[in-house]
Amino acid sequence: MGYPKQPKLLKVAAKGELRDGESKKFEIRRPDRVAEAFLIKKEGDYYAYLNLCRHWTVGLDFDDNEFFSEDRNWLVCKNHGAIYNPATGGCESGPCGGASLYRVPLVEKEGAIFADLEKVEWGEIEGPG
Ligand code: FES
Repeated sequence: MGYPKQPKLLKVAAKGELRDGESKKFEIRRPDRVAEAFLIKKEGDYYAYLNLCRHWTVGLDFDDNEFFSEDRNWLVCKNHGAIYNPATGGCESGPCGGASLYRVPLVEKEGAIFADLEKVEWGEIEGPG
């Protein structure tokens, strides 16, 4: 059983869809769980991560698709203020203790951004979500 399979490359956005400092959430699935992820654009480049803080296993935003700090320089967990580097996913300050967000690798082709679902860094996340 499990969740319906997704293609290896999941189209997430058209290439010009986001402006710098914007984000877009999407869903990724594997047989035992569904996870929320988010795409961001920062200084012309796209990055994507699972929507999971490394302090607690909860989403960074409050379901409002707002991941950036006010100055648009950082990704922020709204729960306790952890700050992450948008380009590396690394925790720069706060209770995430030097950990990094779980990266969702991206592929750009045919004018679109795709998530490479076979290369998602699931880390130690296990079991139904
Ligand atoms: S859950 Fe993200 S900083 Fe606490």
